[in-house]
Amino acid sequence: MDRIQFPKNFVWGTATAAYQIEGAYDEDGRGMSIWDTFAHTPGKTYNGHTGDVACDSYHRLDEDIALLKELGVRAYRFSIAWPRILPEGRGDVNEKGLEYYHKLVNRLLVNDIEPYCTLYHWDLPQKLQELGGWNSRETVDAFVEYAEAVFGSLGNKIGKWFTINEPWCVSFLSHYLGEHAPGLRDFQLALNVSHHVLLAHGRVVKRFRERGLAGEIGIVPNVEWFEPYSAKEQDVEACARRNGHFNQWFLDPVLKGRYPGYMLQWYEKLGYTVPIQQGDMDEISQPIDFLGINYYSGGVGKHAEQANLLKFEPVDTGFSKTDIYWNIFPEGFYRVLSWIDREYGKIPIYITENGACFYGEFDGERNRDAQRIDYLKKHMIQLHRSIESGVNIRGYFVWSLMDNFEWAYGYSKPFGLVHVDFDTLNRTKKDSYYWYKKFIRQGWLQV
Ligand code: FCB
Repeated sequence: MDRIQFPKNFVWGTATAAYQIEGAYDEDGRGMSIWDTFAHTPGKTYNGHTGDVACDSYHRLDEDIALLKELGVRAYRFSIAWPRILPEGRGDVNEKGLEYYHKLVNRLLVNDIEPYCTLYHWDLPQKLQELGGWNSRETVDAFVEYAEAVFGSLGNKIGKWFTINEPWCVSFLSHYLGEHAPGLRDFQLALNVSHHVLLAHGRVVKRFRERGLAGEIGIVPNVEWFEPYSAKEQDVEACARRNGHFNQWFLDPVLKGRYPGYMLQWYEKLGYTVPIQQGDMDEISQPIDFLGINYYSGGVGKHAEQANLLKFEPVDTGFSKTDIYWNIFPEGFYRVLSWIDREYGKIPIYITENGACFYGEFDGERNRDAQRIDYLKKHMIQLHRSIESGVNIRGYFVWSLMDNFEWAYGYSKPFGLVHVDFDTLNRTKKDSYYWYKKFIRQGWLQV
């Protein structure tokens, strides 16, 4: 048996997002977001589930912070709900909204848990959607306004900031595939959104520096890894395109100041263009302090003439799957991190999300989720391989602290280390919670 030892100062944490856990959707002056609208639209989420109550973390802060404390994490990644701060998207600041996050951050700090704060985890104020949402450049200005309000109030208490969570989801999943709010299906629109979201990121980084805040700031792209099914040039190219569309499209502008040329050409050939204005790429590529990386899955892919706009198709080569049907591909975690290292150098990286949906077995007392433990363990081994290979990784956050509102899947897809009963809102620690707790305390894994 081997013992895998992690660096002493490595940051272990867990992650959540506002709309997925807070509830209290209409309290203390919170405005509506595109997720309120989407979830309340029949047919958009599993069984019409909404985040109205979610885990009710808004009212159960103490209980949730006690869970973090006992777990022994050094850091907690959460997001701020824009519509709590600026209910109309811009304009008047809602002090009550800021108070809630002060309370949260203060309690984290007194418990020696470092706050890692995401500014945008998908809850765009509905008012802004009505003015064009992320398809409009005005929303970029609105995001800067919102970030300024947050920096002005919480800027000295929080040391780690993330601008945008998963820009691929914000643009393509939400505006082309239509699966997430606002549920649109228009590729040109999605491309516009991708550009505006990146611009919003860059401008906020710029403002952060101009304010001279002491903390650090970065962005959180989600990445995946696809291996070509065969060595045929067509399959290799199809996977490169998938990588270009999913990973590089967001990493290149931020870290190299340009979109990948072959993807720009591919989209242009199909009649789509990116609304780049003069100076945009400089703004987008403001130096950042770290990258947040979310990794869940990947697989094997090939060229398929009729498949879709990318002429790319995944092939099921027999991967085991989680209960949300995502391939379990720990090796892909190592490969994508190695690729990031080769392509973008030694920028510090935090794995801001990794985790798995498994139902587990709950006997009323104990929640047995051996498959989640297995998933986490396998990914931590690949994390360790990456660190040993020289990838500059500083921390790792399990998604998620507790079962929560899994977007379009509602409450049907649990990712938590803690089980939440959505009738009673009772929290029960799962086996994986105790496993992670023990692991954090010892700092090594037995494999
Ligand atoms: C990511 C999201 C996060 C959660 C996990 C399972 O795409 O950032 O909010 O839903 O997936």
